[in-house]
Amino acid sequence: MKFTLNLNAKEFSKAEVVVISAFTKPEKKETKSKKTESKLVNTHWSKEVKASFEAINSSANFNGGKGETYTFAHDGVDVLVVGLGEKTKLTSEDLRKELAKTYKSISKYKSASIQIDGFTFKSKKEESLAVLVEAFGMTSYTFDKYLTKKSDAKLATVNLDSAEAKSKAKKLQKIVDEAIAVTESINVARDFVNEPPNVLRSTEYAKRVKKDVEKIKGVKCKILGKKELKKEKMNLFLSVNAGSAYEPQLVHLTYTPSKVTKNTKHIAFVGKGLVFDTGGYSLKPGGSMVNMKFDMAGSATVYAAFRAAAKLGLNVKITCILGMTDNAVNEHATMPDAIVTGRNGKTVEILNTDAEGRLVMADCLDYACDFKPDAIIDCATLTGACLIALGTEVCGVMSSDQKLADKLLKSASAADEYMWQLPIIPEWSKDMKGTISDLKNIGGSRWGGTAKAAAFLQEFVRDDISWAHLDIAGVGDSQSHLPYCPPKGASGVVIRSLVDFLKNS
Ligand code: BES
Ligand code: ZN
Ligand code: ZN
Repeated sequence: MKFTLNLNAKEFSKAEVVVISAFTKPEKKETKSKKTESKLVNTHWSKEVKASFEAINSSANFNGGKGETYTFAHDGVDVLVVGLGEKTKLTSEDLRKELAKTYKSISKYKSASIQIDGFTFKSKKEESLAVLVEAFGMTSYTFDKYLTKKSDAKLATVNLDSAEAKSKAKKLQKIVDEAIAVTESINVARDFVNEPPNVLRSTEYAKRVKKDVEKIKGVKCKILGKKELKKEKMNLFLSVNAGSAYEPQLVHLTYTPSKVTKNTKHIAFVGKGLVFDTGGYSLKPGGSMVNMKFDMAGSATVYAAFRAAAKLGLNVKITCILGMTDNAVNEHATMPDAIVTGRNGKTVEILNTDAEGRLVMADCLDYACDFKPDAIIDCATLTGACLIALGTEVCGVMSSDQKLADKLLKSASAADEYMWQLPIIPEWSKDMKGTISDLKNIGGSRWGGTAKAAAFLQEFVRDDISWAHLDIAGVGDSQSHLPYCPPKGASGVVIRSLVDFLKNS
């Protein structure tokens, strides 16, 4: 999909469909508007379009309410009017959702022109433009590579018509380009997550990431295989891979901005990349195992944020560590009761091989600490308990540093994504301690499972480093309540929050 800005536009750019907005006039209590008076606020319509619209009797029934649309023909093209409700009440997320629905209703056309001045929330023109490009980019995503019959041809050209002066071209173009870089990265992550596990082996995943970053300025990529992980003493990570027919892969990415000073912040990301989680010897029941290809969504999420930041050339140094393996069963697979020593020297009794994500993450977190970042943020589909605590709509945040947690929560709010913090209380840290080993990989009870997993991870983060953990077990896929996400499959949620966080680092 190509976006073309058309500033100082006097009329619509030529296209198969023209999209305009309408707001609802706020009802005044004292002087209720007469029936004959239009209920619409449509300041960005041309005289001619208005005349065509009003000439149709049924148009009088259109109120411009949120979710309401009206289509008519004008001068040989289809015109879609998108109702946005009361102007002052429209939020950025309302706009994103309405634009997602708009995309769906115009995707059958090859070209569209949008009068963008009418699609603004709180008179924030630039932010609204970003929301528009984001909404279209995210909604246009499909995963149809395994369908012999692909979905119909998609919208290829979107003209962004605006009355803004041409002098603003550079600034507005930058906003468009940045939003494209972010949504493109979101869609790369979605592709990784949706890829089936018989294709996306750990080795294939690492190879694809390496290829994807090849041409990005400032990015370096190193891959550690089994031999290197043994040398690094990453035995917890290796214990998860023990039953696999495929090598574990630690993908180590770095992004260095063009101008680094001693004030440049260094953020490290760590992502869970379980390309499939059978549970291991603590085998998952069949029903719970389905979709466990998405157990690498944490790694895809941090990778996408890293990729977007590098493409935007953000002035922050980023280390990104992706721990990739499957959790499978063969005669070498780790048995429950095994005691394994992690990279940081702590011993762990593995009482449940299905609590494998924390083992991979533990060694990766310790590895990330070596680079002395200002903060580590990890992201993982870590616990089913997160769905119990926060549903499928909210990402769990846990942190050793309240300031860092607050920054993440602020970024989530700026990106219109839901995050909620859970505490890591000393009782839960104590519950993760072992009797014949330093730690156990599961707590004494299921209660508080999400934060107990975080308490376990915290044991592998050095005390002087700020750390936050994001559990995306709920939000990583099937965000059917968000019209800009596919109802089933990878969501790409949390990436926009992380990009905002990096922008403010
Ligand atoms: N990958 C799962 C977590 C998960 C479960 C994500 C369901 C999304 C949906 C993780 O490896 C796991 O199996 N965790 C166990 C931990 C338990 C054994 C302490 C869980 O949540 O049941
Ligand atoms: Zn598991
Ligand atoms: Zn898992």
